Amino acid sequence: PTIHVVTPTYSRPVQKAELTRLANTFLHVPNLHWILVEDSQRRTPLVSRLLHETGLNYTHLNVETPRNYKLRGDTRDPRIPRGTMQRNLALRWLRETFSLNSTQPGIVYFADDDNTYSLELFEEMRSTRKVSVWPVAFVGGLRYESPKVNAAGKVYGWKTVFDPHRPFAIDMAGFAINLHLILFKPQAYFKLRGVKGGYQESSLLRELVTLNDLEPKAANCTKILVWHTRTEKPVLVNEGKRGFTDPNVEI
Ligand code: UGA
Ligand code: MN
Repeated sequence: PTIHVVTPTYSRPVQKAELTRLANTFLHVPNLHWILVEDSQRRTPLVSRLLHETGLNYTHLNVETPRNYKLRGDTRDPRIPRGTMQRNLALRWLRETFSLNSTQPGIVYFADDDNTYSLELFEEMRSTRKVSVWPVAFVGGLRYESPKVNAAGKVYGWKTVFDPHRPFAIDMAGFAINLHLILFKPQAYFKLRGVKGGYQESSLLRELVTLNDLEPKAANCTKILVWHTRTEKPVLVNEGKRGFTDPNVEI
């Protein structure tokens, strides 16, 4: 199957570095299709050029999260979680592009632009029948969070400290979905409103599967193949107000 990797991304000083690192990983993965969705009014030249130059098979989309929905701490809490509108646009694109009776097998994986992905991860997810799951390092205040797997190889809960009673207590990087299931359940999207922290993943997964359907990967969830790394914001104080370096040089 083709692995459709969905990545939301937004403009910031480290964006090109993040996308370069991702592309360098994806170039080692056979049969990968990168759906890169910019959180912007337009598709930017920086990202367009980068995608083209990678030589990867890609689709370049964009949708801007409304500014006022990005702010945290509003009392009415209109905050839309980061990357959500972008992931939903990719889901819509997949449904418009592929039809249920098409014979093209596919897997969908949501890969944020700052995480670290092993090549083995992509081979593990390739055999996903409905939804496959595995541990993710550096989330929820732990070295790693993981699905709990019993001796029979069934997922029966979540090894997390933060709210283990969530329907699917798993980070975005910890699951992959068969494309057929996404086409078969055309109404399933990530919820934009009223989603408490940590419930975004559940908001989609509960529309698609039950706990009993989950397929543990990564040696019954005993191996770490993905890390929820976060890139430090670079210190640019010496640029000053008017900028010290040439603004025409793309970083
Ligand atoms: C955590 C989860 O791992 C994310 O999957 C989840 O979307 C996020 O929290 C959330 O609920 O807000 P975290 O590392 O805190 O992730 O988030 P980021 O990596 O900053 O953002 C997630 C993705 O959205 C990234 O690919 C990022 O480039 C993108 N993003 C972020 C946007 O498209 N627009 C933004 O304004 C911010
Ligand atoms: Mn992140």
